[in-house]
Amino acid sequence: TPLSRIRNFSIVAHIDHGKSTLADRLIQLTGTVAERDMKAQLLDSMDIERERGITIKANTVRIEYPAKDGETYVLNLIDTPGHVDFAYEVSRSMRAVEGSLLVVDATQGVEAQTLANVYTAIEADHEIVPVLNKIDLPAAEPERVKEQIEDVIGIEADNAVEISAKTGLGIPDVLEAIVTRLPAPASGDPDAPLQAMLVDSYYDSYLGVVVLVRIMQGTLKKGDNIRMMQTGARYGVDRLGVFRPAMQNVDELGPGEIGFLTASIKQVRDTKVGDTITHERRQCEKPLPGFKPSVPVVFCGLFPVDANDFEDMRDAIEKLALNDASFTAEMETSAALGFGFRCGFLGLLHLEVIRDRLEREYDIDLITTAPSVIYHIYMKDGEQIDLHNPADMPDPSKIDHIEEPRIKATILVPDEYLGDVLKLCQDRRGIQLDLTYAGSRAMVVYDLPLNEVVFDFYDRLKSVTKGYASFDYQMIGYREDNLVKMSILVNDEPVDALSMMVHRDRAEMRGRAMCEKLKDLIPRHMFKIPIQAAIGGKVIARETLSALRKDVTAKCYGGDATRKKKLLEKQKAGKKKMRQFGKVEIPQEAFISALKMD
Ligand code: GTP
Repeated sequence: TPLSRIRNFSIVAHIDHGKSTLADRLIQLTGTVAERDMKAQLLDSMDIERERGITIKANTVRIEYPAKDGETYVLNLIDTPGHVDFAYEVSRSMRAVEGSLLVVDATQGVEAQTLANVYTAIEADHEIVPVLNKIDLPAAEPERVKEQIEDVIGIEADNAVEISAKTGLGIPDVLEAIVTRLPAPASGDPDAPLQAMLVDSYYDSYLGVVVLVRIMQGTLKKGDNIRMMQTGARYGVDRLGVFRPAMQNVDELGPGEIGFLTASIKQVRDTKVGDTITHERRQCEKPLPGFKPSVPVVFCGLFPVDANDFEDMRDAIEKLALNDASFTAEMETSAALGFGFRCGFLGLLHLEVIRDRLEREYDIDLITTAPSVIYHIYMKDGEQIDLHNPADMPDPSKIDHIEEPRIKATILVPDEYLGDVLKLCQDRRGIQLDLTYAGSRAMVVYDLPLNEVVFDFYDRLKSVTKGYASFDYQMIGYREDNLVKMSILVNDEPVDALSMMVHRDRAEMRGRAMCEKLKDLIPRHMFKIPIQAAIGGKVIARETLSALRKDVTAKCYGGDATRKKKLLEKQKAGKKKMRQFGKVEIPQEAFISALKMD
């Protein structure tokens, strides 16, 4: 296909604004899939994505569209992940296309996550066509939303396409806009040395690793020997094709085209998103700019509730890691929780998605320890340590200073909740950077420590704003602060799964809250149990769980033997969900609940 008849684009939208519905419509209207094969939401392939209504892996589809000018165009849609945790993948897929449709729900307006992705599109030099969706709804306010797009994002919205992805209204206008308003790929020479971008990859149980590529220069053919420039890995191309959206083989892909290849690649880890693919024999001079592998920033321990599940859990984790290069897992043992894994994630949502999949798809009950970030520890002897797990904290007397990661958080919130949001950010050691208004909503920008956000910031934000706020963040770097490790001791035994890094000024408060909670969560024993929070050897908070005075079975008025037996059985069953710490048993749920702040 000549470049002038190719259009590559992505769709930028906030969750639920109708990206998938629109994509399905575009596919349907161009007859890419027969009507009867149309499943709801073709592009979201994983169940979990469908269920949670989020798009995780970039997908792609090639559409052929006979335009009003009489020519047939090839339209390649790359579906981008909608969530901030996947920011790097978003920026890569944006670099693989020339334009974006900005879909905004005309009843809702622009949201924080939309902003982040639009800015990524603008950075990638995209032409952007605003599309107002859901105009079939009486609550739609296209004029107001157009103004908002202009005010908040700063792009022209006068000529926004007004559609209803649900009823199909306006879809032909979207197709025409793609052809007439988005640019064709910049020049590409089919005879130049191959330069292709590795946009995405995933593991398929039949085909092995499938790699999504965008050809910049040169031509890729079936059977070619290729080389990944960053990793240096070499492969022979087994299969080349395009998604329509089902896989369809092709013999070659030329400049401007988007397609997939398979090459007996064993694991997704061997394919780094953003890498440059070239020919083994005739290499291109330079790799594509801006390669940066996505690295995990949030860590937590995952342990099976039932130690017998450990082997199953290991299998499950290996399978998940096969398909997700940014998820890391290393075996870990904890005195409290036994064998498990220390896992790394791109962010909180990523953590949740993986944990959910382990629990649901693999049926493993898990204990999650407090999410932690990576601290940079500078020792007095000049050594620098990356601390992933508070349990590994070195002797504080040998530490010179500690730095923690900070984020720039953007929150969009209706006026009436602004006060609560400011308070929340302030409570979490935030520094306000900006506060502006767009219509009846405020946009607040805060510099926040990531560790104050990883645990329950989303939950708190949702609850103080009744779900009306939208939130997005990006890492801005490391900064020194007065950070200490707080340990929790139950009956004088440290419980490493509950230790955490906190700011010195907030340690007492957190410690007290923790001890109080644990006091409620740990059942009483036959003896008194002290519960303490400590920094180094210094106790900063303390509660005492009083002893159980009578035998539990005492309330079964003597005689009734079956009742007594039942009660003991019930206790035994309950015990399975308990963990033994020295002489004390702590229920599983105590770990999660104790770490939540309110
Ligand atoms: P993610 O894939 O989670 O990012 O969401 P999405 O942006 O793809 O949204 P999706 O297409 O799943 O649509 C969200 C909801 O809005 C669904 O319940 C759709 O049926 C509904 N919806 C989408 N377009 C329209 C529309 O034009 N009008 C109306 N009334 N509802 C729509």
